Amino acid sequence: MQQICLSLLCGLGLHLILLCCAEEGLEFPNFDGKDRVLDVNERNYKKALRRFDLLCLFYHEPVPANKGLQKRFQMTELVLELTAQVLENKDIGFGMVDSQRDAKVARKLGLEEVGSLYVFKDDRVIEFDGELSADTLVEFLLDVLEDPVEMINNPMEVRAFERMEEDIRLIGFFKGEDSYYRAFQEASERFQPYIKFFATFDKTVAKHLSLKMNEVNFYEPFMEEPAILPGRPLSEMDIVEFVNQHRRATLRKLRAENMFETWEDDMDGIHIVAFAEEEDPDGYEFLEILKDVARDNTNNPELSIVWIDPDDFPLLTTYWETTFKLDLFRPQIGIVNVTDADSVWLDMSNDEDLPSAEELEDWIEDVLSGRWHWLHRVKVIRRRIRQSDSL
Ligand SMILES: *[C@@H]1O[C@H](CO)[C@@H](O)[C@H](O)[C@H]1NC(C)=O
Repeated sequence: MQQICLSLLCGLGLHLILLCCAEEGLEFPNFDGKDRVLDVNERNYKKALRRFDLLCLFYHEPVPANKGLQKRFQMTELVLELTAQVLENKDIGFGMVDSQRDAKVARKLGLEEVGSLYVFKDDRVIEFDGELSADTLVEFLLDVLEDPVEMINNPMEVRAFERMEEDIRLIGFFKGEDSYYRAFQEASERFQPYIKFFATFDKTVAKHLSLKMNEVNFYEPFMEEPAILPGRPLSEMDIVEFVNQHRRATLRKLRAENMFETWEDDMDGIHIVAFAEEEDPDGYEFLEILKDVARDNTNNPELSIVWIDPDDFPLLTTYWETTFKLDLFRPQIGIVNVTDADSVWLDMSNDEDLPSAEELEDWIEDVLSGRWHWLHRVKVIRRRIRQSDSL
C-alpha cells in the first residue's frame, strides 16, 4: 500500500525524496495515514461551516464500481488528505460531498459542478478551477486565507507591486479605512484570489503611482500604463463591473491555479496559444515580441493570447507535443480549436530568426479575420509539396 501511495503521489507532481541519510531541513511531506477529510452530510455540514475559517469541499460523483476509476478517485482523495495534513495548523476544514448520497446538502450549499472544489469563506463561495495537485491547492488556499486587499506603504513595496506584470492588479488611494475604502474591499472579496487588490493611504506612494484621492487604477498584465477607473469615489458595483469588463487580458499567462477557467474562456471556440519558455533565450525574445504586439493591440477586444510556459506544466508537455504535433523546445504560436483540439501553427521552422512584431501582427490579423481556415489548407498543401519533393 505504501508503494502505491508513493507512486500515486509522484504522478501528482509531488517530488518525493526518500531520505536515507541523517540530514535534516529538506523533507517532502508524506501522507501520514491519518484521516482528516470529513465525509460531509446533512448532520454535520452546518457545524463544519461554522467551525473553520475556510471550508474546502470536493463535490464528486458516487464512488465508481470500476477498479481503475476507483483508483482515480482515491488519488483525488489523497491530494485532499495531503493538503489537509500540510495545512493542519491553519483553520481550514476539508470534506467530500457525494452528488447522489448528499444531494440535499449539495443543493443547500449551491454546489453545481460535479468534480469541482468549492471553498467557503465567510458568506462567500470560491470555486477552484485549477490543477488538482497538492502544490497548487496549498498555494491557492493560503492566498484565500489572506486579506483580499494588500497595503502598499513604502517605496520597496511599490517596486514589488510594479514588478508583478503577469497579474491583473488594482490599486486604490484612500484617506483611511473609510466607506470608499470599504467599497473597494468589498469588491476585492468577489475576485479573491484571482485578481489582486492593493491600496495605499500614503501620499508619497500615491504620488509615485499618479493616484488621486479615492482613485483606482487597473493594471492589465504586461501593459506599461494602467487604466484609470472612471469616476471618483467609486462604489463596489462600479469596481466589480469594470473588472468584469476588463478581466480578459490581451496577453494572459496560463497558470495552474486557474487553468481550466482560462481555457473555458475561449474566443468563439478558439484560442490563440503561444508557447514560450521564459528561461530560454529564444523563448524570452519571443515573449518580448508578444508583449509588444499585446501593447499595440490592448484595445482590441477580439484579441487575447494565452501564453503557456511549458516549464510550468511538465506533466502536460508531452501531451501538447503529441496533440499539436509540435516541438516545444522552440517558441510556437498557433490557433487551437477547443472543441476538437485541431490546430494551425505559424511556420517558424525554417527561419533562424523569430518573426518581427509586424509579421506576428499580420499573422494575427489573418487569424482574427477568419483566414486561418485558409492558412490550414496552405499548410496541408505545403506538406504535400514537401513530400512529393522528397520522393
Ligand atoms: C471546431 O471544431 C468543431 C468540431 O470539429 C467544428 O464544428 C467547429 O466549426 C470548429 N470551430 C471553428 C471556429 O472552426
